[in-house]
Amino acid sequence: PVLKESAGALVEWYRANKRELPWRERMDAYRVWISEIMLQQTRVEAVKPYYERFLKELPDVRALAEAPEDRLLKLWEGLGYYNRARSLKEAAGEIVEKYGGKFPCEYDEIRALKGIGNYTAGAISSFVYNIPKPAVDGNVMRVVMRVTADSADITKASVRSGIEEMVEEAIPHEAAGDFNQSLIELGAIVCLPNGEPKCAECPLRDACRAHAAGNETDYPVKKKA
Ligand code: ADE
Ligand code: SF4
Repeated sequence: PVLKESAGALVEWYRANKRELPWRERMDAYRVWISEIMLQQTRVEAVKPYYERFLKELPDVRALAEAPEDRLLKLWEGLGYYNRARSLKEAAGEIVEKYGGKFPCEYDEIRALKGIGNYTAGAISSFVYNIPKPAVDGNVMRVVMRVTADSADITKASVRSGIEEMVEEAIPHEAAGDFNQSLIELGAIVCLPNGEPKCAECPLRDACRAHAAGNETDYPVKKKA
């Protein structure tokens, strides 16, 4: 279990090397939620100004639930995928009705909200509440498939859930959030896609099977449908 053995090194690396980002200033479920939905479709640098503006205008769940649709879509203009903005508002309404406006703090409650899938639920649960659930997005899949030199097709749902299980088993319970963030951050700044992983700077370089074989960029495998 190469990932589990590397957990301590990953967490240490993250704490020493993480970027300062607006949504990392304070760990708050609303802030993590909005940032992760924006980051699903847009790069970090482009998200920053949208995120700051959104949080200033709609600073909490209640403000979002009550926002007129035109104001919401204006704040989202340029990010695309407008249904995501509509889902945010719908979920905010659910939180107001079911939880009195306080963001739920159990994984299953978070996962059940409109527009929140395994990744976002895992991110909120682990970053904010330290719940040991995985947060596996495309970046994390790339890291895991390289470290384990696994050529399974990541476009298959069964492969994705296998990765989620492996990550879940590797999570150190005292540092669930930092562990998940370490994989996301590693995929974002070190284990880069295409021809450019920066293996010389990687805390996993001695454990990584793809690096040992020198074929990092053979992973992940994505078969065309
Ligand atoms: N990409 C997706 N989620 C991210 C996060 N929390 N920090 C940096 N990049 C990300
Ligand atoms: Fe990615 Fe290279 Fe690190 Fe392996 S050693 S996880 S390929 S950056």
